[in-house]
Order: sequence, then structure tokens, then C-alpha cells
Amino acid sequence: MPGMGAVASTLIAGVMQARNNDVAPIGSVTQMAHIRLGKREENRNPLIRDFVPLAGLDDIVFGGWDPISPNMYEAARTAGVMSDSDLAAMSSELEGIVAMDAVFEQRWVSRLEGVRVKTETNKFAQAEALMADIERFRVENECDRLVMVWCASTEAYQEASAVHDTVAAFEEGLRNNDENIAPSQIYAYAALMSGVPFANGAPNLTVDLPCIVELAGREGVPICGKDFKTGQTLMKTLISPGLKSRMLGIRGWYSTNILGNRDGEVLDAPENFMTKEVSKLGVLGAILQPELYPRLYGEIDHKVRIDYYPPRGDDKEGWDNIDIFGWLGYPMQIKINFLCRDSILAAPLVLDLALFMDLAKRAGESGVQEWLSFYFKAPQAGEAGPEHDIFIQQTKLKNTLREWMGEEPVTHSEAG
Ligand SMILES: NC(=O)c1ccc[n+]([C@@H]2O[C@H](COP(=O)([O-])OP(=O)(O)OC[C@H]3O[C@@H](n4cnc5c(N)ncnc54)[C@H](O)[C@@H]3O)[C@@H](O)[C@H]2O)c1
Repeated sequence: MPGMGAVASTLIAGVMQARNNDVAPIGSVTQMAHIRLGKREENRNPLIRDFVPLAGLDDIVFGGWDPISPNMYEAARTAGVMSDSDLAAMSSELEGIVAMDAVFEQRWVSRLEGVRVKTETNKFAQAEALMADIERFRVENECDRLVMVWCASTEAYQEASAVHDTVAAFEEGLRNNDENIAPSQIYAYAALMSGVPFANGAPNLTVDLPCIVELAGREGVPICGKDFKTGQTLMKTLISPGLKSRMLGIRGWYSTNILGNRDGEVLDAPENFMTKEVSKLGVLGAILQPELYPRLYGEIDHKVRIDYYPPRGDDKEGWDNIDIFGWLGYPMQIKINFLCRDSILAAPLVLDLALFMDLAKRAGESGVQEWLSFYFKAPQAGEAGPEHDIFIQQTKLKNTLREWMGEEPVTHSEAG
């Protein structure tokens, strides 16, 4: 994992707990969810992890890069997600995961001062150094396969430019230190060139670029992104398809959050918040289809705010005010006050993505993995555009697994 912060350290601590103390990996679909096979009366409902050949928790080795955290124990202590007493039992194991020096440039994350940073100044040389890290990690830990999941900070807002058009242009840009190439793109390039699938947990473009899509196809490696779907956006994608299924109208959706962790601090910089805002705002339009339903969803005011508020640490609080309308146009309101824990929600997603991306590679998949849209706020997708409705995403994920394993997709139809 590039990024050894709150999410990465919470993930690892949870996996350690699950394998040492048999603590349930709650929130992880790969570990906890069942999948129905065939007709309902056949009563075949295995666990997903028994149905598809996923790597087991005991077989996973973790590693990471970070420009600040020295090791996973310090990362977990700084993040403050878990109590010191919970961490104590795992302290030496977590301390043993020492950060590799990061490819880092402050221009992309103005609020952070990097200290554990690679000395190479040329971007192509930085990519080569990352590939050497990947190879060293593979050999030292005797890994058969690797997956990279971006758990590092959100980078400043950026749009794709000419250097991102093709692999050739991108490689030329790396050699010329093109200023439009962000660190996350260098990690993605290094991963794909090493045959390692890449999932992007932050809203940066990273793998959502023509050059990286081309490279993933050429090297036969799966990619997916972007921005873990947790917290307020998870709620949005749970509630809006429900309102739409009953043809209830929506006039406005105002969302605000307070968050006090390092992620919140990074997002306090306007250029980094903009990256997040774009990712969060796309959700409602895609679910509600205002072009098909202009009278219900044609005039929505959708606002999203995040305020950095240190006293709360990782314990985010979100408020949503939803102005809806029903029969005869009469207005109603829904208020949601979600007191969540950001990293507790995100950690199991990283585990699932790592295991599913590894499975996808073994299934011979390459390029964008739309069936993993379930996990993302701004899913990367083909020409038809992204699917945001979490229930359609879940069906797509499960049907993909069924088809890979030679089972019929479940359509829920009564006609068949
Ligand atoms: N927690 C959630 O619910 C959630 C949801 C969606 C997206 N995310 C995204 O996941 C990412 C991680 O979140 P977090 O709460 O763990 O943040 P965090 O700030 O605790 O950790 C991020 C870490 O990345 C490191 N970093 C920054 N630039 C780097 C680079 N170039 N290379 C390697 N490491 C680098 C930072 O030093 C930091 O330790 C953020 O981008 C966040 O926006 C989190």
C-alpha cells in the first residue's frame, strides 16, 4: 500500500485480530457474505470465500510506503482509530511493517511535510526505484502474487493532459519530469509494469487516465478505482435508489461533515478538497437519471461540505438534509445524522479489493474492473459510464463471480 495512515493501519490490525483471535472481519464481503447459487429452493448459499478461490487471511503479507509514518504501529497510534490497549497486543507485529521511502512531492499535498522520501529527482528513476521495491518485497516475503491498493492522501485536483494520452507520451513525460505527472501515477505505472493489479482508494485520477488504461491492457493487469465508498456517500447510494424506486422526487440534498484526522487536514486545502468534491458530487446524477426523470430529479441542489475539525479525530460526523416531494408535489424532509468511523468503514474495503483484484488477475482479466464499482464513490467504467446504485453494483459483483465459476447469473425474475 502506498500510504501507511489511518486506513492502512486499521486494515492490518483487523486482519491480525481476525487471524490470531478469531475476531469476525465485519464489513468485509469476501469474508462474511454468502452467495446464492441456482434457484432459491435449491438452498445453495455458500460463503463467497468458499465459493471462489480467494487467498486466505493467513497467506497475506503487508507492506507500504509513506513519507511520514515510520512503521504501521506509529501510523496506527497517530491515526488514533484504535485504543492503545487494543494496539498493545499487536505492537511488535505492526512495528515490523516498516515504511519504504515514498515517491512524494509536496506540490500535490500541500499540508504534509515529507521526510521519508526517495532521493531520485527524475520521475522515470522514481518509477524504477518503486519497481525495485516491489521486486525486493516479493523476494523477501516469498510472495507468489502482489496487489497494490492506494491508501495514501488525496492529491490536488487535476484534469488529464496531453502527457496522459498514451503510454509513449507518459513515459516521455516521466523522463522529462513533466509537472502534470503526480506521484500516484508513478506508483500505478510501477505496479502495472511489475504485473501488479492496482486499486485506487482515493479520488485522484491515478489509473483513470487513457495512458494507464492502455498500459493495463498491454500488460494484462486489472485496475480499478476510485475513492472508497464509505460514510456519507455510502448512505447516499443506499437511500437515493430507494426513493427513486418509489418515484419520489428530490429537490435538494445538502451534506456536511466534520472530520479531524490527517485525511481531513489534507482535504482542508482547497485544491485537495476539489478532487474529493468532484468524486462525491457525481453520485446522485448517475443514480437518479434526471434526463429520464426531469420532473422528479431535474432541479436538485446538491451541496457537499467537509470541515476539518481536529477534536473529532477519525470519528467523523455527517449531516444530510434531503428535501423530497411526493403525491401532489407535497414537500417532505429527511435528516440523517451519521456518527461514523471513517477508517473502520474503509478498512474491510481494502481487504476485499486486494483479494478480488488478485482473483481477477488469476481469472485472466485485465483493464478496468467494473464489477468492483460496488466499492467506489466514482467508479471507473467503460463507454456507458459508471453505475452508482449500490444494489445494481452488488448484483453485478455477485453475477460476475457466478459466471466465472460456471454458475447461472441470478436475475430474480419470476418469468424464467
Ligand atoms: N477512510 C475513509 O472512509 C475513506 C473513504 C474514501 C477515501 N479515502 C481516502 O483514502 C486515503 C487514506 O485515508 P486515511 O484516512 O488513511 O488518510 P491518512 O492521512 O491517515 O493516511 C494517508 C497517508 O498517506 C501518506 N502519503 C501521502 N502522500 C504519499 C505518497 N506520495 N506516497 C506514499 N504515502 C503518501 C501520508 O503521509 C499518510 O500517512 C485518503 O486519500 C482518503 O481520502 C478514505
